[in-house]
Amino acid sequence: MRAFSFVLLLGVLGCGATTLDEVSPEVWALEPTYAQHVRPLFETHCTSCHSSLGARAGGVELDQYESAFAGRVHQVCVTVEPEVVARFGAALTPFQRSGQPPRAPCEGWEVGSMPTGARSGLLLDEQVILARWVETGAAR
Ligand code: HEC
Repeated sequence: MRAFSFVLLLGVLGCGATTLDEVSPEVWALEPTYAQHVRPLFETHCTSCHSSLGARAGGVELDQYESAFAGRVHQVCVTVEPEVVARFGAALTPFQRSGQPPRAPCEGWEVGSMPTGARSGLLLDEQVILARWVETGAAR
C-alpha cells in the first residue's frame, strides 16, 4: 500500500516547479491525506530526526497522525518558502489564544528552517501538498 502511494505521489509531482505558477493543476486540486501524501514526505525529509520510535528532536514526532495533526500549522510553516506562506495566508495562521491579538501567517516560527543540516528542502510541489493538507482540514 505504501509503495503504491509513493509511486502515485511521484506521478503527480512531475519534475518540480520553480515558481508557484508552475505547480501543476493536479497538485493544486489534491485534497491530501496524511497516510497517502503527507507521511511519505515526512518519511523522506523529516522522520530521521522526528519520530516516536527514535530521535524526537524538539519533541516533534511526525510518524504518527495524531501528533502530526496537532502540530500541523507549525510543521508546515517551518518547511515551506515565504511565497507559500503568502499564498496560503489564513490557513497557515497560528492558533489565536482568547484575549490575544490576531496573529499573522506563520508568525513566531522560522519559515523554511526545516529540514536542518545538509539535507535539501522540499520541492515547491511538495510544499504545496503540505499546505493543501492543512488548508483542506488535515485528513487522516
Ligand atoms: C537533521 C535533523 C532534522 C531534520 C531532518 C528535520 N528536523 Fe525539525 N528539528 C530538528 C532539531 C534538532 C530541532 C530542535 C531545535 C530547533 O528548533 O532547531 C527541530 C525542530 C523542529 C520543529 C520545532 C521548531 C520550533 O520552532 O520549536 C518543527 C516543527 C520541525 N523541526 C519540523 C520538521 C519538519 C517538518 C521536517 C521535515 C521537513 C524536519 N523538521 C526535519 C532536526 C531536524
